[in-house]
Amino acid sequence: MRHLLSIRDLTAADLQAILGLSEKPAPQPLTGKGVALYFEKPSARTRNSMELAAAQLGGHPVYLQPNELGIGMRESVADVTRTLACYHSIIAARVFDHSLLEQMAAVNAAPVLNMLSATDHPLQALADLLTIKQLLGRIEGARVAFIGEGNNVSRSLAEACVLAGAEFVIASPPGHGLEGAVLDPAEAVEGADIIYTDVWVSMGDEDSDERRAAFEPYQVDEALMARAKDAWFLHCLPARRGEEVTAPVIDGPRSGVWKQAENRMHTARGAMLWLLDK
Ligand code: CP
Ligand code: NVA
Repeated sequence: MRHLLSIRDLTAADLQAILGLSEKPAPQPLTGKGVALYFEKPSARTRNSMELAAAQLGGHPVYLQPNELGIGMRESVADVTRTLACYHSIIAARVFDHSLLEQMAAVNAAPVLNMLSATDHPLQALADLLTIKQLLGRIEGARVAFIGEGNNVSRSLAEACVLAGAEFVIASPPGHGLEGAVLDPAEAVEGADIIYTDVWVSMGDEDSDERRAAFEPYQVDEALMARAKDAWFLHCLPARRGEEVTAPVIDGPRSGVWKQAENRMHTARGAMLWLLDK
């Protein structure tokens, strides 16, 4: 049984297969079947794109919240997972603690799909790569510069870039990076085809003056974009204009964020078809 908890669950061929499935007309393997969508945190893109993608595949999405399921309190993780698998072909979850996804996947009752955890956001990275392919006409050899926190979004993007043969570089404030080399923003965007950022304060993280002060030199503004010449700007959204990105950049002619948001639906279909091995 396949699970997609992180990009590390994919081979390079799997990744290309998902991108290919995302651009094809939708078959209907989920006719009469359900897709469970469990959210511990808010969502605009992920919930809506997954609901639509499930419907396009012929399935019926069911939105679930912690106060209904009471995972680990009303009922054990394993029993909830087995119960959901009686009705649903896929169990998708957005969680605080990544290990909850691992516990659900270990039950092996239905494919488990990560809709964002503290460490990974694989559905976002799939949409990001499809968007890069559409904007540049290629992924291999593209230079992707991430300016901001080493978090769920940047980790999955880095892993997906490596898997697809793109160059990934990151500039993060000290103490907020990913494992490995960290550049400063000006170095990172040198020769970049894509400049990507994410919020300074992720869902569930503590906001503070110290944090904002650390991230302030990492704002993507027109001057930083200009250093890269013809780069496209991407952002997973939601965005905070005036914080991680300025309005002229995200609302400007080199912003691909709306194509990227739309692609969340197409790659959600691709990811679910891959999970179902269709
Ligand atoms: N990019 C993303 O995952 O958006 P939501 O949090 O609105 O789902
Ligand atoms: N890093 C952000 C991404 C939101 C889609 C968060 O975890 O809140």
